[in-house]
Order: sequence, then structure tokens, then C-alpha cells
Amino acid sequence: MDTDTTEATEDHADESAFGPVGVIGAGAMGAGIAQVAATAGHDVTLVDAVPGAAASAVEKVGAALSRLVDKGRLSADDAAAVLARITPVESLDELPECGLVIEAVPEDLDLKRRIFADLADRQPPTTVLATNTSSIDIDDIAADVSDPERTLGLHFFNPPPVMKLVEVVHGSRTARAYVEHVTALMSAWGKTPVRCSSTPGFIVNRVARPFYGEAQRIVESGVADAATVDWALREKGGFPMGPLELTDFIGQDVNLAVGTSVWEQTGRDERYAPTAFQRDLVEAGRLGRKTGSGVYAYAADGSVTGAEPDLGLAERLVGGPIATDPLARTLAMLVNEAVDLVARGEASADDVDTAMRLGTRYPKGPIAWGREIGFDVVARQVAELDEAYPGGRYRPSPALTDGSIS
Ligand SMILES: NC(=O)c1ccc[n+]([C@@H]2O[C@H](COP(=O)([O-])OP(=O)(O)OC[C@H]3O[C@@H](n4cnc5c(N)ncnc54)[C@H](O)[C@@H]3O)[C@@H](O)[C@H]2O)c1
Repeated sequence: MDTDTTEATEDHADESAFGPVGVIGAGAMGAGIAQVAATAGHDVTLVDAVPGAAASAVEKVGAALSRLVDKGRLSADDAAAVLARITPVESLDELPECGLVIEAVPEDLDLKRRIFADLADRQPPTTVLATNTSSIDIDDIAADVSDPERTLGLHFFNPPPVMKLVEVVHGSRTARAYVEHVTALMSAWGKTPVRCSSTPGFIVNRVARPFYGEAQRIVESGVADAATVDWALREKGGFPMGPLELTDFIGQDVNLAVGTSVWEQTGRDERYAPTAFQRDLVEAGRLGRKTGSGVYAYAADGSVTGAEPDLGLAERLVGGPIATDPLARTLAMLVNEAVDLVARGEASADDVDTAMRLGTRYPKGPIAWGREIGFDVVARQVAELDEAYPGGRYRPSPALTDGSIS
């Protein structure tokens, strides 16, 4: 990020100067983002190309605000005022001049690229154009924008009114001033912004890859069953959910798509290669809770059937050799991934830790965890894993031992 603009500094010196906000796409994310922006005091125009979709999204926002009123967290007057600030429309023709436009249409590069080019033509040159993409490169989305310094990613987490984390993602041509002002704006909206470059998966979806991948590989190789691995990560590691039950919750298809996207964007780096275990689940239609079976089978009431952890096995594996220790192996790879991201200058150590604690509810940030374990110990563990499982997946980041992270 080496560009800068004086316009950005002058026009957005105070975050309230962003004025009206446009949100494009009134689905799960767009409706929630509109609610957040309107709650922060902005006039919001919510655009959806499907007739009636924006209006029904505003109704849903109204219902969400009513629930907050019922819980005593918002006054009825404030809820009415927030709702009155959101205007649903069905075309970009009806979008007024905005200080910030956030695009939240489906994850399709051509569609997003077209919308960005259209917005750049219609909006004043100082309007910041943001995308809520989870995985697409910001430069690619901004490819047809003649002044891409005003484009960036604003990656909200689901549901936006509840989740505090927002990744503020800069493309290679994004102006530093816009990143700073939008970061300040997110804080003013009550969010916790972290900054990162447009690296595949950004922070959360990148650093979390080994959390799923190691567990899948341990089960795939027959070292332990899913329930035992999940138990070890939950009970011994303090993670709120085990990795395998979490993939059932997210949806195996969704989790595989994110992993595959990171793998493709990194030139099919072995470190992110999807597992046969997960591909087989998806091919078999075992997508997780939503289909009644995934890694686990679920009863009608949502409880897991027929999967008990082998506690004796878990106790033997945790603290044993790294190659078969589900917890130490996962932590080593999480620390390695996080350190690598920081060493390459994609994000700061503090932002990586904040993002992982808030975005995935890990009990500790991976950099802090690495400090506790010892970065030199992690380097040895990853090297041992490479010996046990050669092929390029286990590559200790040079930053673990060169003193660049402490
Ligand atoms: N759902 C999540 O958990 C989540 C989390 C973070 C980021 N994201 C990202 O946010 C974006 C939106 O995701 P979502 O889950 O809200 O999708 P969604 O499918 O629920 O909503 C997308 C909306 O965009 C509308 N739309 C399609 N084409 C349009 C156009 N040309 N103009 C205006 N509106 C149009 C659709 O009618 C739909 O209402 C995606 O890029 C996704 O990757 C999703």
C-alpha cells in the first residue's frame, strides 16, 4: 500500500464526514451491515436487484431492532429512528451520492467487478468503494475502476450487528488515507477493525486453515476418531468447539469452498490442500448439521448420535509425539501460519491475535500462544511434522527462528 491521496485526507478527516452510506445486496450480510450503519447514525440506502428484496430486508432489520427493544437494549424511539434511516431501493439508479458504499452481493468476481465499475462511474471520486468479499482479491474486484485508490475490503462477520470484528483489507493500490479513515469509522460504529493486505483468506480465513486441516488429516490417517480429536481440542486446548464439529456447523461445502479458494489463490500450496476426507463428505452430500449428517450423524433434535470420544486415547495422544498429538500439532501449525502472515507484512501481530480471538473465538491469539510455547519449539515441531509427513505441507516459517517475531 504505497499510494496516498490528499482528497481522502481532506474529505474524510472526520469519520462522521462519510455521510450517507450505500449498501448493495440486501442478503444476510447486506441487511446486517445496513442495520449497523443506520444504528451509527448514517442515512443508508439499501439496494437489491431482486424486486421486493431490499424492502423485506428492511422489515427483517425492523424485527431485529424490536427484539433489542424487548431486551431493553434500545429504546423504541431509537429503534424507530434507526429504521427510518434505511431506504430500500431496487436499482443503483436510486442510490444517492454517498461517502461510503459497501457491496455485499454474492461471491462472484464478474458481478462484483461490474458493480464496482458502475459505482465508480456514478459516485463522486471521493466516495470510498468497499466490498464485503470473504475471499476475492480486492485488486481483481477493482480492476475496472479508473481510480482504485478508493477501493478496499470491509469484511464483516456474520451476523454483522453482533460480531465485533471487521477486517479492513487494502489492495495494492488502495490509498493509505482511506484505510485509516475507514478503520476509524469502523471503531466509531462500535466495531473492532483489524487491517490486512488482500492476501488469500485475509487474516481469519487464512490463519484458521490448519485448525480444520490438521484434524481432518488425523482422522483420515486413522490416528484418532473425530469425537476424540474434537474432545482434545475443546477440553485440553480450550477451543469453544472442536474443528470437526465446527465444520459440520459451518457446512462442509462452505468450509471446503473457502479452503479451496485459499489453495487456488496460493498457487495450490500444499499447506492448504483440501483433504480427501472433506471432499468425500461433500461428494456424499454429508454437508453437516444442515443435511443431518457430516462428520457426525445428527438426531432430529440436533444431538450427535453414535460418537463418543475415547478419553484414554486422547490422554495418551496429547503430550505424546507431535506427529500424533492433535492439540500440539494444530497449535504448531496455527502459530506457524500466523507468524508467516506477520513476517510477510500482511498484518500486524496484534491484529492477527485480535482477529483470531474475535473472528473464531480462539481462547488465545496464535502469536501470543507461540510466545508461550516458544517460537523455537514450534519451529522444531513443524520440522518434525515435515519428517513424519513429507511433501511440503509442513514448512517452518523462517520467522520462527530468525528473531523477526518476538
Ligand atoms: N454469509 C456469510 O456468513 C458471509 C460472511 C462474510 C462475508 N460474506 C460475503 O458477503 C457477500 C454477501 O453474502 P450474503 O451471505 O449476504 O449473500 P446473500 O446471497 O444472502 O445476499 C446477496 C444479495 O445480493 C443480491 N444481489 C444479487 N445481484 C445483485 C445486483 N446486481 N445488485 C444488487 N443486489 C444484488 C441478491 O438478490 C441477494 O439478496 C458475499 O461476498 C459473501 O462472500 C458472507
